[in-house]
Amino acid sequence: MEQTAIKQLLEQMSVQEKVAQLSQLTPQFLGREQGVITGPLADFPDGETYLNGLGSVLGTTDREEVIAIQKEHLAHDRLKIPLIFMQDVIHGYRTIFPIPLGLGSTFDPELVEILAHAAGAEAAQAGINVTFSPMADLVRDARWGRVMESTGEDSYLNSVLAAAMVRGYQGAPADLATDFSRIAACVKHFVGYGAAEAGRDYDTVDLSRLALAQDYLPAFAAAIDAGAKLVMPAFTLFEGVPAAANHFLIQQVLREQLHFDGTVISDWGALRELVSHGVAADLTKASEKAFNAGVDMDMMSGAYLTGLTTLIKNGQIAESLVDQAVLRILTLKNDLGLFEHPYRQVATALVAPESAPTQATRALAYQAAVASTVLLKNEQILPLSEKCRLAVTGPFADTGALLGSWHCQGRYEDTVTVLTGLQQQFEQVTVLPAPVSADPADYNEVDAILVTLGERENATGEASSQADLSLPPDQIALVKALKQTGKPIIAVIFSGRPLVLTAILPEVTALFYAWYPGTEGGTALAALLRGQALPQGRLAMTLPRATGQTPLYYNKLRVGRPANQANTIKYSSRFMDVANGGLFDFGFGLGYSPVSYTAPHFTQAQATMTMPAQITTTVTNTGDYPTIETVQCYLSLTNTEVVRPQRQLCHWQKVTLAPGASTTVKFDLTAADLAYVHSDLQRRTDEGPFQVYVGPNSQTELSAQGTFNASTSPK
Ligand code: NOJ
Repeated sequence: MEQTAIKQLLEQMSVQEKVAQLSQLTPQFLGREQGVITGPLADFPDGETYLNGLGSVLGTTDREEVIAIQKEHLAHDRLKIPLIFMQDVIHGYRTIFPIPLGLGSTFDPELVEILAHAAGAEAAQAGINVTFSPMADLVRDARWGRVMESTGEDSYLNSVLAAAMVRGYQGAPADLATDFSRIAACVKHFVGYGAAEAGRDYDTVDLSRLALAQDYLPAFAAAIDAGAKLVMPAFTLFEGVPAAANHFLIQQVLREQLHFDGTVISDWGALRELVSHGVAADLTKASEKAFNAGVDMDMMSGAYLTGLTTLIKNGQIAESLVDQAVLRILTLKNDLGLFEHPYRQVATALVAPESAPTQATRALAYQAAVASTVLLKNEQILPLSEKCRLAVTGPFADTGALLGSWHCQGRYEDTVTVLTGLQQQFEQVTVLPAPVSADPADYNEVDAILVTLGERENATGEASSQADLSLPPDQIALVKALKQTGKPIIAVIFSGRPLVLTAILPEVTALFYAWYPGTEGGTALAALLRGQALPQGRLAMTLPRATGQTPLYYNKLRVGRPANQANTIKYSSRFMDVANGGLFDFGFGLGYSPVSYTAPHFTQAQATMTMPAQITTTVTNTGDYPTIETVQCYLSLTNTEVVRPQRQLCHWQKVTLAPGASTTVKFDLTAADLAYVHSDLQRRTDEGPFQVYVGPNSQTELSAQGTFNASTSPK
């Protein structure tokens, strides 16, 4: 439909029809499902009435439901404006890929884009038009359950991957209307949700504008630049005002600074929460505040449905602003081709979700699970031969619950368990009966023990903050008992957050961090153990030594009294009982071969406004296995106007190296890479020297110095 036709449609709409466009409810409110609504929604009037007075539906379960709702709606809607269907498709729809924190650990934007397209295509087949993804929140506190939904603690990595997800879901700009394997992306939670105090979900956030601009906004900016059609404000505060009522955040930052012209949709019931926050006396006031701040669509609070018409009549809300909000939603529907194809998913010849996971989506899930798993320790035991007689135990030995708490329509029965995966790769696999014996005599037929550890799926995700990040005592006891058998122990951790592994690290011979790997988790782990697949994941979030270190992240600002490596300086910024760094830091991960790095050197040491500096290093596989190395480049600035991080990731490159092979990796450092946010909140580049670290992870000491000179041309 032409934009002029949309405007004509808007002119025909009554105030009530406009207000209806601005609301989203679940199918329960359309009289379709029996269910109990609790909490603040309990007093919300439900029933058939909303079916003909609604703009959007969230949380349908299959295409039949979508088709039935749309059909009934269109039969009654005076202007035949189709509903738009939204859903949390976070890391897969039916075929489940690794959780986003695992996707972060792939350091692979091409793969992440492909996965987002595959997830979107399955969701589109089930009638979904919009996903509430990517989550672009920067996460630094592993106590927060929602770290699993982020790609980690580095805002640059998050930016690259958020943009990749948007491209994967939406395709090229014109694709949405015609390519029904594409869905629209909603980037969330705008902004700063990850900074909730003590990692307690929904808790207070108090961020400076500098931190906002420098650390928290870039991933949102990248997703918006990639074309994300929707933005969801966070549940949390910025400068004391909840994001859903925050005029500064939505108008000044989102609309003016980031040039976002798409739809702003509230988070679930967030308008009602304005009342709980105490910034609105009632729902009507909440509607007024949220609408005037710039929230176009109200998800599941009913505030707009019940209050907006009166507010417009009373002149507290300008109808011209309502028109703009409605226009944005109609434009979104039009961008998705919904006016011409309200059942867009039915018209495609793609495989129906009922038959997913398919061979093709399983292959992708396998590739992603391999790429996201991080090898943390390997004392010359891995890879194993197929003849290795393996015993397996622990809570995740034979369960499909390897998907994560946002696993959408993923099914445990479709998931390859660790045991099933091992049986495909090893000649002899035994499951140790519980309680396990610690007697060496019981292990004569065993060469190595694989112990599966971690936290259950719903221990992370929304509303799943944890005050203690240690492995549960029974799991530590299990490892210690197994240690007494004298057999090598290989541990694999399934978790949605960084856990404290200090107690078990010395006991194990090898250690994998598998996050929640998804549908092909068991196949991927077994292939990695056998060396049929190469370990290549790198931590997207630091693993702490102790919970008390949190929030913990590699790119801490410089302090006036830095601690030393040995942690011996009394009046320094440190804990007396634990070193400052992580047990394993951001960017860390091993392959099956050691890789050597030459000291990085500049082939062009001076950067200008138009010419990048260029730094290079040569990496060599010095072992007997092929390996995939993630060469990482970190920048360190001093003599700056505001305090900068000790170092920050600015580039990386994944290279595959055959045994003995070398390759030279080059990184360009542009004026934009060197720029940082100054106290006037402007991003610019200072003249002078800068230090660049190039190595295998965030702790590398290999570095070289370049300079930035704005006014000269390079010689
Ligand atoms: C609440 C969550 O904060 C948000 O991430 C999600 O998209 C909505 N619920 C919808 O399920």
